[in-house]
Amino acid sequence: MGKIKKVAVLTSGGDAPGMNAAIRAVVRCCAYNGLSCVGIFRGFAGLIEADFKELDARSVKNLINKGGTFLKSARCDEFRTSEGRLKAVENLRSQNIDALVVIGGDGSFIGASILAKDFDFPVVGIPATIDNDIQGTDYTIGYDTALNTVMEAVDKIRDTASSHNRLFLVEVMGRDAGNIALNAGIGVGAEEILIPEQNRGLQYLLDSLCRSKKSGKTSSIVLISEGGKIGKNIFELAAFIEGNLPEYEVRVTVLGHIQRGGVPSCYDRILASRLGVGAIDALIGGEKNTMLGMVHNKITCVPFSEMIKGKRPVDLELVRVADIISI
Ligand code: F6P
Repeated sequence: MGKIKKVAVLTSGGDAPGMNAAIRAVVRCCAYNGLSCVGIFRGFAGLIEADFKELDARSVKNLINKGGTFLKSARCDEFRTSEGRLKAVENLRSQNIDALVVIGGDGSFIGASILAKDFDFPVVGIPATIDNDIQGTDYTIGYDTALNTVMEAVDKIRDTASSHNRLFLVEVMGRDAGNIALNAGIGVGAEEILIPEQNRGLQYLLDSLCRSKKSGKTSSIVLISEGGKIGKNIFELAAFIEGNLPEYEVRVTVLGHIQRGGVPSCYDRILASRLGVGAIDALIGGEKNTMLGMVHNKITCVPFSEMIKGKRPVDLELVRVADIISI
């Protein structure tokens, strides 16, 4: 592989707070090393349509503190086809781009790794998703901010739950991953936490709520991952609890996409900055077809082939902690 002179960067999949800080670090590390940098708008869709813009160090000013992604993001079906990926690589080559940085989740890295492999095109991934479910990194960009968003929201819900002696069911994001529910649940002192990775059944939940009442609790919070496998949506669950435990007055809050927005936390800004610089260092050092991770506070390179083998599992030891502290 020749020397890298020009790098492109895009954001893909669900946005995450801190993506802008990562783009900024990529662009500035390119400038620092005398490399050109091109921003690609709307993820792989913009790559296929050649929606490109040259970026210099000043193009990314005042961005480190902004949520969302100024390059915008999209989920792109065309990139799943070989024709789509061929168009993408032709666009990169016609603009003399030597390498691509993809900021996104595991879905984005699967497409990126096929592009890297089929066309021997250097690609480095930066993990960014509020779900924190990517193998090969302890943390993904956006997760810490999302946890804090959930914590602030549920603290407010706790006030009104307590004033009215109510049970609140609060749904948080995580289609397949319970990290947000489990960790935010501990942070807010939830009475129960329902995650996709562990289905204890509805009777367990009813028993737990009965115990809570008997122990003198007057209000309760149950945090539920949107991907919870209990076989009922959150509104059906509320009706089910009221039907079986009439002593409970139940209300439902679905936090939804507020978890994906907002000012990134300091932790996410630092993580994004380190991974952004790490991505350009890795490309200059000859890495390709790899994702950068943060493991024990050190930047590591994880081949895409390893990363896409599976999701990062939740730490079920945390369930025990949550059980103990919620008695
Ligand atoms: O992967 C991040 C995530 O926010 C999940 O937690 C959630 O299930 C999904 O994206 C929602 O995606 P969309 O914004 O496309 O509806």
